[in-house]
Amino acid sequence: MAKVKTTFFCQNCGSQYAKWQGQCNACKEWNTIVEEVIQTPEKSDWKSPTAAVKKAAVPLRIKDIDVSNEARLDTFDGEFNRVLGGGIVPGSLTLLGGEPGIGKSTLLLQISLKLPYKTLYVSGEESQKQIKMRAERINPTNNNCYILTETKTQNIFKQIETLEPDIVIIDSIQTLHSDYIESSSGSISQIKECTTELIKFAKETATPVLLIGHITKDGNIAGPKILEHMVDTVLQFEGDRNHVFRILRAHKNRFGSTNELGIYEMQGSGLREVSNPSEILISKKDEELSGNAIAATLEGMRPLMIEVQALVSTAVYGTPQRSATGFNAKRLNMLLAVLEKRAGFRLGAKDVFLNITGGINVDDPAIDLAVVASILSSNEDVALPKDVCFAAEVGLSGEIRPVQRVEQRILEAEKLGFSTIFVSKYNKISLKKTAIKIQLISKIEDLVGFVI
Ligand code: TYD
Ligand code: MG
Repeated sequence: MAKVKTTFFCQNCGSQYAKWQGQCNACKEWNTIVEEVIQTPEKSDWKSPTAAVKKAAVPLRIKDIDVSNEARLDTFDGEFNRVLGGGIVPGSLTLLGGEPGIGKSTLLLQISLKLPYKTLYVSGEESQKQIKMRAERINPTNNNCYILTETKTQNIFKQIETLEPDIVIIDSIQTLHSDYIESSSGSISQIKECTTELIKFAKETATPVLLIGHITKDGNIAGPKILEHMVDTVLQFEGDRNHVFRILRAHKNRFGSTNELGIYEMQGSGLREVSNPSEILISKKDEELSGNAIAATLEGMRPLMIEVQALVSTAVYGTPQRSATGFNAKRLNMLLAVLEKRAGFRLGAKDVFLNITGGINVDDPAIDLAVVASILSSNEDVALPKDVCFAAEVGLSGEIRPVQRVEQRILEAEKLGFSTIFVSKYNKISLKKTAIKIQLISKIEDLVGFVI
């Protein structure tokens, strides 16, 4: 019997070692190096070896390169198209990552059921019956969607050769295994090998492949980092499982910008595209409540109006509690210190709770002013007018700092019927004649004067 060949891989970064060691030299992580059985293939090819006689590449003048057949495939999903930069590029590999249960399988199944092409959905996680049951909830319109439950890449390619689908979806890359490698599915060497085979297949046949990838506890895509380097596009599907909103972002996109963002709502019948998120994120209520403020933020390139809620109350215990949902807790502490030092509010002995509604995580600094306004409003127990919103960053000395793309934010606020927006005096605004009043302020005291 041939000797079993093994190598050591770092489970974090994918570096390869001849023998075990405690720390990875490349990423400096401890105890991540694991032994895996490999068997270098004579020919790791998606088709029979004879089919792949590779032509030697020759340099071409850039203007001579033909891109006419690079037309993108429309996914018939406005949000998905937007994030990809206008549709799927033929021959591209797209990796979709996200927490378990967030809706990755639902999203891709839904897309394959909507497309008017021949699609192949390969699942290594669910049975054909389970997928059919899920598909029935979504209400399929594509009769050309094939479901295959298989995990061996060689068998998948065999089916692909006879079926010739226009698009292939793999759920998930961690369940695949290739005969050329002996280690178990989901290991670094398997993921690497299966992805390499899929890339080869995609590039040679110009068939786009969409992969689903699991993520680890700390939110990275499970498997080697090189997986993200190998594919053309990395999408992340995120959101709070207890909330209905899901956000699709591109972390890497070789064919478009990574600033675009797609928003979905999880319903009983699959995911619905949300084309006007601001209207849903702001709760519609008749009375004005203290502690609420609206921020005009940007998620990627999209303006989003988000509601910030604060509750300030006298601390019951010795150490006041500070808690923030959807907002950086350190930043909240900083803003509280600024309010204390620059505006003289005694918040040191108060509990402060902050919540961004809709389960969205915001890291746009332009939300600062709305956070400060909601804290002041709750502390003083005075409600802010409903039709006022904020878009500015607050600095350590209490100065109101300008934010990027302020005009886009102003226009969104105007569109949604706000009457006043607070922005920094230092923002250059070239908008003429707006229905919304643009209130320019330069320091935190100006805001205090308005709230109280
Ligand atoms: P799923 O797509 O399997 O998540 P993932 O592949 O990312 O692990 O399922 C997501 C959740 O969505 C599941 O818990 C049930 C729910 N769901 C709906 O609310 N409505 C639907 O129409 C479907 C198909 C699923
Ligand atoms: Mg799934």
